[in-house]
Amino acid sequence: MIELKQVTKKYGKGAKTTEALSGLDLTVHKGEIFGVIGHSGAGKSTLIRCMNLLERPTSGEVWVDGVDLTKLGKQQLQTQRRKIGMIFQHFNLLSSATVYDNIAFPLRLAHVDKTAVAAKVDELLQLVGLEAHRDKYPAQLSGGQKQRVGIARALASDPQVLLCDEATSALDPQTTDSILKLLLDINRKLHLTIVLITHEMHVIQSICDRVAVIHQGGIVEEGTVTDVFLKPKHPVTREFIQGQAGESAQLALQAPHDGSSRICKLTFLGEKTYDSILSRTARETGVDFAILQGTISKIKDIPYGQLIVRLEGDAETIEKTIQRVTAEGLDVEVMN
Ligand SMILES: Nc1ncnc2c1ncn2[C@@H]1O[C@H](COP(=O)(O)OP(=O)(O)OP(=O)(O)O)[C@@H](O)[C@H]1O
Ligand SMILES: [Mg+2]
Repeated sequence: MIELKQVTKKYGKGAKTTEALSGLDLTVHKGEIFGVIGHSGAGKSTLIRCMNLLERPTSGEVWVDGVDLTKLGKQQLQTQRRKIGMIFQHFNLLSSATVYDNIAFPLRLAHVDKTAVAAKVDELLQLVGLEAHRDKYPAQLSGGQKQRVGIARALASDPQVLLCDEATSALDPQTTDSILKLLLDINRKLHLTIVLITHEMHVIQSICDRVAVIHQGGIVEEGTVTDVFLKPKHPVTREFIQGQAGESAQLALQAPHDGSSRICKLTFLGEKTYDSILSRTARETGVDFAILQGTISKIKDIPYGQLIVRLEGDAETIEKTIQRVTAEGLDVEVMN
């Protein structure tokens, strides 16, 4: 659906040049929710703004729905852009227009007739749950409600893609979750492709199918959220995920252990999350274990569990235990 090929973006000239994107390649499939995570200044906004040519790349190609946007003239670009909606961190609403008029704005710009505008706006108000607020002004709305207006406005031209630049960063955790739920709902109902950039792993974990980690203008890791989240490879990815697990995992790793005992991280995914694999295996091999830390959570709608345990016994017993639980489908990482 979206393909970026060798995209480079430089700001400024001469000695003052900043290279925000350095020959970046990225593919987003039709119908998926694709997340891009990175620290401040990594190039996230530049990347997403290059996807609709709000920012023109210095070099490289931007393919959306089979068309290279960088090769289009002004008129053609405008037509192609209708396929791409966008929402922003600070909503970018017209403060002197009502909710209704904000949503109607892109339709009027495209000379849609009055009856069709009214029908479309009503449909969108219902989709985002703002029927009761149609005549209010942005200043009379909460942050979450403002973002709902932003989403409705972005959907007015029936786009195939929705770009979200830090769409929940200005919202409290509860409101963030309600907006994420709405985005997931829209993705499923309208088969809309969503690209979402964020610096919060929680956002990625809640609704994304795949994720890319951006660092210093390049993608350093990419994959399904389960793969990247449960087996992060790049140090930047690990940082984002450790930030989430907090202190307790660190403490677990510092637990005393001697002789042949081993501290291991066991990952249970999907239906295995609820399986008593560990106690069954321990009964068979005679290993003892101490549970040092445990979490259960979900990646989108897939449950997973992680246990940090200290396995105790002779080296052979421990080895046999690791082999058995691995054969049962757990992922085992020997940490210490
Ligand atoms: N209009 C601009 N002119 C000059 N430099 C810019 C411009 N926009 C961005 N940059 C620079 O490009 C780099 C990437 O910026 P970008 O805004 O894409 O990062 P970001 O990942 O979105 O950061 P944040 O999380 O803070 O929003 C930064 O070094 C930034 O200073
Ligand atoms: Mg940004």
